[in-house]
Amino acid sequence: MNGKFIVFEGVEGAGKTTQIYQTADWLQSMCSQDRSVVMTREPGGTKLGQQIRQLLLDDPQSLVTNRTELLLYGADRAQHVESTIEPHLQRGDIVLCDRFTDSTIAYQGYGRGFDLDEIARVNQLATGGLQSDLTFWLDLDVTIGLQRVLSRGKPDRMELATLDFHQRVRQGYQELANIYPNRIVRIDANRSQSVIQMEIQAILMQAKWLWNS
Ligand code: TMP
Repeated sequence: MNGKFIVFEGVEGAGKTTQIYQTADWLQSMCSQDRSVVMTREPGGTKLGQQIRQLLLDDPQSLVTNRTELLLYGADRAQHVESTIEPHLQRGDIVLCDRFTDSTIAYQGYGRGFDLDEIARVNQLATGGLQSDLTFWLDLDVTIGLQRVLSRGKPDRMELATLDFHQRVRQGYQELANIYPNRIVRIDANRSQSVIQMEIQAILMQAKWLWNS
């Protein structure tokens, strides 16, 4: 049995977390006992990664440079792929991941302005070439997402970046979706949680690769 790797992406406040939880519950109810559905995230999907997450996000005044930021996301991913994602995929599990390589392309590439080839090299080094089987891009207007985040309380270092930065990130996702139409599915996140979840389930129901092995 081959594992399956499904990623959720999007700008701040797009509602990924809720959708991942609901998708995990639904998928588990649809799968046989011997197939586990696992939820994880980046940054912070491992014990070491949780420390990296704190370094990256907790302190809005942190003097982390853009290059260090890129490499810390890469380090988090390297640890995550080797110690968590790959072992689960080898066991045949379905892994649902909150953010993966496209976040680095959108945030550090389009957002911070790093050369995309340089980002590709960091991603390749961190993942050994692992890609998602499918990525749901929850697309939401940046101002709506940021308002949601601010209304929840203490925003983190990335959430406090400029509106322009977040708009470039969204543009990055749009370009990625254009380049990889078979891997990245745009979901209009401007709708109710239940409607979004129904669309995700409908797409997964039709995905033969998910159910056939
Ligand atoms: P989140 O897990 O709450 O979505 O927050 C993670 C933050 O880290 C979010 O602002 C996106 C950012 N991020 C990057 O900038 N690059 C990356 O490669 C990843 C995985 C996340």
